[in-house]
Amino acid sequence: MTTSEDAAVPSGSGRRLRFGLSGKLLFLTIAFVMVAEILIYVPSIANFRLNWLNDRLAAAHTAALVLDAAPSGMVPESLARQILKSIGARAVAMKMGKQRRLLAASNLPESLDESIDMRSVTWYRAIIDAFKTLFTVTPKSVMRVVGPAPMGGDFLEIILDEAPLRQAMLKFSTNIMLLSLVISGITATLVFIALTYLLVKPMRRITANITEFRAEPENPIRIIEVSGRRDEIGTAEKELAAMQRDLASMLSQKNRLAALGLAVSKINHDLRNLLASAQLFSDQLSSLPDPKVQRFAPKLMRTLERAIAFCQSTLSYGAAKEPAPDRKSIALEPLLEEVHEALGLGLDVPIRWIVAVERGLTVEADHDQLFRILVNVARNAMQALASRGANDPARDQIRITGRREGAVAVIEVSDTGPGVSEKARAHLFEAFQGSTRAGGSGLGLAIAAELVRAHGGEITLVPGTIGATFRVSIPDRAVELNARRNERARA
Ligand SMILES: Nc1ncnc2c1ncn2[C@@H]1O[C@H](COP(=O)(O)OP(=O)(O)OP(=O)(O)O)[C@@H](O)[C@H]1O
Ligand SMILES: [Mg+2]
Repeated sequence: MTTSEDAAVPSGSGRRLRFGLSGKLLFLTIAFVMVAEILIYVPSIANFRLNWLNDRLAAAHTAALVLDAAPSGMVPESLARQILKSIGARAVAMKMGKQRRLLAASNLPESLDESIDMRSVTWYRAIIDAFKTLFTVTPKSVMRVVGPAPMGGDFLEIILDEAPLRQAMLKFSTNIMLLSLVISGITATLVFIALTYLLVKPMRRITANITEFRAEPENPIRIIEVSGRRDEIGTAEKELAAMQRDLASMLSQKNRLAALGLAVSKINHDLRNLLASAQLFSDQLSSLPDPKVQRFAPKLMRTLERAIAFCQSTLSYGAAKEPAPDRKSIALEPLLEEVHEALGLGLDVPIRWIVAVERGLTVEADHDQLFRILVNVARNAMQALASRGANDPARDQIRITGRREGAVAVIEVSDTGPGVSEKARAHLFEAFQGSTRAGGSGLGLAIAAELVRAHGGEITLVPGTIGATFRVSIPDRAVELNARRNERARA
């Protein structure tokens, strides 16, 4: 059933899949953490820049207080320079009313590249400006920063070089990037380990088990051991184990039945030969003049005949499949005459045989198989009538009608017997199940149904008639082929 090549495919693709899943998870985790870090980085670099500038303003604020306290507002040149250096600014000025006081200055630039008012900064601008500082600032760029002023001043402004700010921002960015890499590395590893143990490994175990089970489904050792987890994987394992158990027991039961069937048909075969010998002996017996022998010999013969027929039908049912029907156009009326003869319904059996078939009706069927179908159905009718003690041909009748409904030939066999009992109806067309007749094997209708189905037709018990009526419909070959084609197309 499973070749070694077949088995190699899933395990091979399983190995590839294993690597693929773990690798993908690792890569995705790193990527997601990096995306998260970028989302955090954008506002934090803007914030860093604002803080850096605010620090400068705060220092300028303190310096303004000092410079303002100096007598007559003047401080020595060297002190002013030192103060400016500690702030990191080129100039500090304060606006008070209409007056703008330059508190300290050293080499003022001719033009400004950038100006920012720290009293009114929007987040949006802060972010844009941060990236501008990172990407457009040159070593010579100079900016003006405006902030709140002390001592009732309108505002304080400082002029400073942008290069140190950019430097600090680059350093901050590098640190953040290194930190992100470390964090995403650690996170990815943790997620990877967690997923490997929670998901990938159990999945691998299940896949391997499925492959092993497929190679040997009837072996109960191959049924997966449930790990007792309470999550989805645990449920999957439980369901898989239940399915495998059912399948394994079903398969071993099937195997046992097949072995049993084989044994039965062997026994049956030999039994039939033994019975045939017994029949020969009893045939000899019947020629003895003893009246007792004369009385019992025919009964013995009949019983043996029945036993042989029973063996025969069981054997032919067990013998694999019926050959595919060899379909030809068959005239129904002559065929029915053959059935009539085969049943032995001559003058001495008081059952009326009525044939009402459309003139010249033909059926596209296998001659022998159609004959067997009709013999089985008609014999049941005969037996049903006989079971009631048939003796009046006016009452005990078997009526066969035949007609065409388009491309389907419909044949109905009805009798005026007791009808099919409720018990027989339950399993009418199933082998060994439907018989309620002493000496019946329950194979007749099962065989008839199998043969009719092989023709693409159907056999049914027509409800609500006096006695029993069986309807056999056999479609013409073209119709049957068409139906099969449609079925295949639908599949
Ligand atoms: N025309 C009928 N009238 C009444 N009962 C019927 C009729 N045809 C079939 N049955 C019932 O259906 C049962 C099954 O029929 P089937 O032909 O499959 O088996 P069987 O006749 O019992 O045995 P076998 O045909 O294998 O010798 C019969 O036992 C009988 O009870
Ligand atoms: Mg029968």
